[in-house]
Amino acid sequence: MIFAANFKTNHTRASTQAYVEALEERLATKRPEDRVYLFPPATALDRYKGSFTVGAQNAYPTRNGAVTGEIGVEQLEEFGIKTLLIGHSERRELLQESQTRVAEKFCYFQSLGFEIIYCIGEPLEVREAGEEAVMAHLLGQFEGIDITYDNLIIAYEPIWAIGTGRSATTEEIHTTHQALKQHLARPLLYGGSVKPANIQEIGAIEGVDGVLVGSASLDVERFSQMILA
Ligand code: 13P
Repeated sequence: MIFAANFKTNHTRASTQAYVEALEERLATKRPEDRVYLFPPATALDRYKGSFTVGAQNAYPTRNGAVTGEIGVEQLEEFGIKTLLIGHSERRELLQESQTRVAEKFCYFQSLGFEIIYCIGEPLEVREAGEEAVMAHLLGQFEGIDITYDNLIIAYEPIWAIGTGRSATTEEIHTTHQALKQHLARPLLYGGSVKPANIQEIGAIEGVDGVLVGSASLDVERFSQMILA
Protein backbone atom coordinates (compact mmCIF):
# COMPACT_ATOMS: atom_id res chain seq x y z
CA MET A 1 0.00 0.00 0.00
CA ILE A 2 0.93 3.62 -0.47
CA PHE A 3 0.46 5.95 2.51
CA ALA A 4 0.74 9.65 1.70
CA ALA A 5 0.45 12.46 4.25
CA ASN A 6 -0.65 15.85 3.00
CA PHE A 7 0.04 18.39 5.75
CA LYS A 8 -1.61 21.20 3.74
CA THR A 9 -1.06 24.49 5.68
CA ASN A 10 -0.10 22.75 8.90
CA HIS A 11 3.18 22.13 10.69
CA THR A 12 6.30 24.30 10.77
CA ARG A 13 9.87 23.48 9.83
CA ALA A 14 10.60 22.61 13.49
CA SER A 15 7.54 20.43 13.97
CA THR A 16 8.10 18.71 10.61
CA GLN A 17 11.65 17.89 11.65
CA ALA A 18 10.38 16.33 14.90
CA TYR A 19 7.64 14.50 12.98
CA VAL A 20 10.11 13.01 10.52
CA GLU A 21 12.37 11.74 13.29
CA ALA A 22 9.46 10.16 15.16
CA LEU A 23 8.07 8.67 11.95
CA GLU A 24 11.38 7.12 10.99
CA GLU A 25 11.52 5.31 14.33
CA ARG A 26 8.02 3.94 13.85
CA LEU A 27 8.74 2.89 10.26
CA ALA A 28 11.39 0.42 11.40
CA THR A 29 8.62 -2.19 11.50
CA LYS A 30 6.74 -1.21 8.36
CA ARG A 31 6.10 -3.82 5.68
CA PRO A 32 8.92 -3.50 3.10
CA GLU A 33 6.46 -3.28 0.18
CA ASP A 34 4.61 -0.30 1.67
CA ARG A 35 5.57 3.15 0.44
CA VAL A 36 5.26 6.30 2.53
CA TYR A 37 5.14 9.88 1.24
CA LEU A 38 5.12 13.17 3.13
CA PHE A 39 3.98 16.48 1.72
CA PRO A 40 4.94 19.20 4.22
CA PRO A 41 4.33 22.89 3.55
CA ALA A 42 6.95 24.55 1.29
CA THR A 43 8.67 26.30 4.20
CA ALA A 44 9.37 22.94 5.84
CA LEU A 45 10.94 21.25 2.81
CA ASP A 46 14.41 19.89 3.47
CA ARG A 47 16.71 16.99 2.65
CA TYR A 48 15.09 14.59 5.06
CA LYS A 49 16.52 11.09 5.02
CA GLY A 50 14.47 8.04 5.82
CA SER A 51 12.28 5.25 4.54
CA PHE A 52 9.81 7.71 3.05
CA THR A 53 9.70 10.13 0.13
CA VAL A 54 9.21 13.84 0.65
CA GLY A 55 7.29 15.73 -1.99
CA ALA A 56 6.04 19.28 -2.51
CA GLN A 57 2.34 20.20 -2.31
CA ASN A 58 2.74 22.61 -5.16
CA ALA A 59 5.24 24.24 -7.50
CA TYR A 60 5.00 26.58 -10.45
CA PRO A 61 5.97 25.19 -13.85
CA THR A 62 9.18 27.15 -14.14
CA ARG A 63 12.81 26.64 -13.28
CA ASN A 64 12.98 30.07 -11.63
CA GLY A 65 11.85 33.58 -12.55
CA ALA A 66 9.33 36.25 -11.67
CA VAL A 67 6.36 34.44 -10.12
CA THR A 68 5.78 36.10 -6.77
CA GLY A 69 4.85 33.71 -4.01
CA GLU A 70 5.60 30.52 -5.93
CA ILE A 71 8.48 28.07 -5.92
CA GLY A 72 9.98 26.42 -9.00
CA VAL A 73 12.32 23.60 -9.88
CA GLU A 74 15.41 25.40 -8.57
CA GLN A 75 13.91 25.57 -5.07
CA LEU A 76 12.87 21.91 -5.18
CA GLU A 77 16.27 20.78 -6.44
CA GLU A 78 17.95 22.33 -3.41
CA PHE A 79 16.34 19.57 -1.35
CA GLY A 80 16.44 16.83 -3.98
CA ILE A 81 12.66 16.88 -4.31
CA LYS A 82 11.33 15.06 -7.37
CA THR A 83 7.76 14.33 -6.22
CA LEU A 84 4.82 16.69 -6.57
CA LEU A 85 1.11 16.82 -5.81
CA ILE A 86 -0.87 18.28 -8.71
CA GLY A 87 -4.57 19.02 -9.06
CA HIS A 88 -5.64 18.95 -5.41
CA SER A 89 -9.23 20.14 -5.10
CA GLU A 90 -8.21 22.89 -2.68
CA ARG A 91 -5.97 24.38 -5.35
CA ARG A 92 -8.59 23.90 -8.05
CA GLU A 93 -11.26 25.57 -5.90
CA LEU A 94 -9.62 28.07 -3.54
CA LEU A 95 -6.86 29.10 -5.94
CA GLN A 96 -8.92 28.71 -9.07
CA GLU A 97 -6.48 26.43 -10.85
CA SER A 98 -8.28 25.56 -14.06
CA GLN A 99 -7.93 22.22 -15.82
CA THR A 100 -5.80 23.98 -18.44
CA ARG A 101 -3.37 25.30 -15.81
CA VAL A 102 -3.30 21.97 -14.03
CA ALA A 103 -2.54 20.18 -17.30
CA GLU A 104 0.24 22.67 -18.16
CA LYS A 105 1.80 22.07 -14.77
CA PHE A 106 1.49 18.32 -15.23
CA CYS A 107 3.18 18.37 -18.66
CA TYR A 108 6.02 20.55 -17.40
CA PHE A 109 6.86 18.34 -14.42
CA GLN A 110 6.32 15.19 -16.45
CA SER A 111 8.90 16.43 -18.94
CA LEU A 112 11.37 16.67 -16.05
CA GLY A 113 10.58 13.14 -14.88
CA PHE A 114 8.93 14.13 -11.61
CA GLU A 115 6.86 11.59 -9.76
CA ILE A 116 3.37 13.07 -9.78
CA ILE A 117 0.48 12.36 -7.44
CA TYR A 118 -2.40 13.69 -9.47
CA CYS A 119 -5.64 14.41 -7.63
CA ILE A 120 -9.18 14.21 -8.94
CA GLY A 121 -12.51 14.43 -7.15
CA GLU A 122 -16.11 15.53 -7.52
CA PRO A 123 -18.18 18.02 -5.51
CA LEU A 124 -21.27 16.87 -3.60
CA GLU A 125 -23.80 17.97 -6.23
CA VAL A 126 -22.08 15.78 -8.82
CA ARG A 127 -22.03 12.80 -6.44
CA GLU A 128 -25.72 13.33 -5.81
CA ALA A 129 -26.38 13.27 -9.56
CA GLY A 130 -25.20 9.64 -9.66
CA GLU A 131 -22.25 7.46 -10.65
CA GLU A 132 -22.46 8.36 -14.34
CA ALA A 133 -22.15 12.08 -13.56
CA VAL A 134 -19.29 11.32 -11.18
CA MET A 135 -17.36 9.45 -13.86
CA ALA A 136 -17.96 12.17 -16.46
CA HIS A 137 -16.60 14.72 -13.98
CA LEU A 138 -13.57 12.64 -13.02
CA LEU A 139 -12.66 11.76 -16.60
CA GLY A 140 -12.90 15.49 -17.42
CA GLN A 141 -10.11 16.02 -14.92
CA PHE A 142 -7.85 13.87 -17.06
CA GLU A 143 -8.12 16.33 -19.93
CA GLY A 144 -4.58 17.21 -21.05
CA ILE A 145 -3.09 14.65 -18.65
CA ASP A 146 -0.97 11.74 -19.86
CA ILE A 147 -2.47 9.01 -17.71
CA THR A 148 -0.02 6.48 -19.13
CA TYR A 149 2.93 8.35 -17.59
CA ASP A 150 4.87 5.72 -15.71
CA ASN A 151 5.81 7.97 -12.80
CA LEU A 152 2.20 8.77 -12.02
CA ILE A 153 0.00 7.94 -9.05
CA ILE A 154 -3.65 9.01 -9.10
CA ALA A 155 -5.54 10.06 -5.97
CA TYR A 156 -9.32 9.99 -5.97
CA GLU A 157 -10.55 12.42 -3.34
CA PRO A 158 -14.27 13.22 -3.32
CA ILE A 159 -14.44 16.88 -2.24
CA TRP A 160 -17.38 16.28 0.10
CA ALA A 161 -15.30 13.74 2.04
CA ILE A 162 -12.28 16.00 2.56
CA GLY A 163 -11.89 17.34 6.07
CA THR A 164 -15.51 16.54 6.88
CA GLY A 165 -14.93 13.41 8.95
CA ARG A 166 -17.34 11.65 6.57
CA SER A 167 -15.41 9.31 4.32
CA ALA A 168 -17.07 7.91 1.21
CA THR A 169 -18.69 4.54 1.92
CA THR A 170 -16.93 1.31 1.08
CA GLU A 171 -19.47 0.80 -1.69
CA GLU A 172 -18.89 4.27 -3.19
CA ILE A 173 -15.11 3.87 -3.09
CA HIS A 174 -15.30 0.38 -4.57
CA THR A 175 -17.60 1.39 -7.42
CA THR A 176 -15.68 4.54 -8.34
CA HIS A 177 -12.27 2.87 -8.11
CA GLN A 178 -13.41 -0.04 -10.27
CA ALA A 179 -14.77 2.38 -12.87
CA LEU A 180 -11.58 4.46 -12.81
CA LYS A 181 -9.41 1.36 -13.09
CA GLN A 182 -10.97 0.64 -16.47
CA HIS A 183 -9.21 3.76 -17.72
CA LEU A 184 -6.02 3.63 -15.66
CA ALA A 185 -3.07 1.32 -15.31
CA ARG A 186 -1.45 3.35 -12.53
CA PRO A 187 -1.76 3.06 -8.71
CA LEU A 188 -4.97 4.61 -7.42
CA LEU A 189 -5.22 6.14 -3.94
CA TYR A 190 -8.32 7.11 -2.02
CA GLY A 191 -8.40 10.31 0.05
CA GLY A 192 -11.07 11.96 2.20
CA SER A 193 -11.38 11.50 5.97
CA VAL A 194 -9.10 8.47 6.09
CA LYS A 195 -8.17 7.80 9.71
CA PRO A 196 -7.04 4.99 12.01
CA ALA A 197 -10.67 3.95 12.56
CA ASN A 198 -11.36 3.28 8.86
CA ILE A 199 -7.92 2.50 7.37
CA GLN A 200 -8.34 -1.26 7.47
CA GLU A 201 -11.75 -1.18 5.85
CA ILE A 202 -10.64 1.26 3.15
CA GLY A 203 -7.30 -0.45 2.57
CA ALA A 204 -9.08 -3.76 2.00
CA ILE A 205 -11.28 -2.45 -0.83
CA GLU A 206 -10.38 -3.96 -4.17
CA GLY A 207 -8.89 -1.26 -6.39
CA VAL A 208 -7.54 0.85 -3.52
CA ASP A 209 -3.74 0.89 -3.81
CA GLY A 210 -3.20 3.37 -1.01
CA VAL A 211 -4.45 6.44 0.78
CA LEU A 212 -3.83 10.19 0.76
CA VAL A 213 -4.41 11.47 4.28
CA GLY A 214 -4.92 15.05 5.48
CA SER A 215 -6.07 15.74 9.07
CA ALA A 216 -5.28 12.29 10.46
CA SER A 217 -1.71 12.48 9.13
CA LEU A 218 -0.85 15.57 11.18
CA ASP A 219 -0.24 13.52 14.28
CA VAL A 220 2.70 11.18 13.76
CA GLU A 221 1.22 8.55 16.10
CA ARG A 222 -2.03 8.41 14.15
CA PHE A 223 -0.29 8.33 10.77
CA SER A 224 2.13 5.58 11.88
CA GLN A 225 -0.77 3.65 13.36
CA MET A 226 -2.39 3.63 9.92
CA ILE A 227 0.79 2.49 8.17
CA LEU A 228 1.43 -0.29 10.66
CA ALA A 229 -2.22 -1.39 10.97
P1 13P B 1 -8.66 14.79 5.07
O1 13P B 1 -7.93 13.50 5.35
O2 13P B 1 -8.42 15.84 6.12
O3 13P B 1 -10.09 14.58 4.76
O4 13P B 1 -7.98 15.42 3.74
C1 13P B 1 -7.85 14.62 2.61
C2 13P B 1 -7.01 15.35 1.63
O5 13P B 1 -7.43 16.34 1.06
C3 13P B 1 -5.66 14.84 1.38
O6 13P B 1 -5.08 15.45 0.28
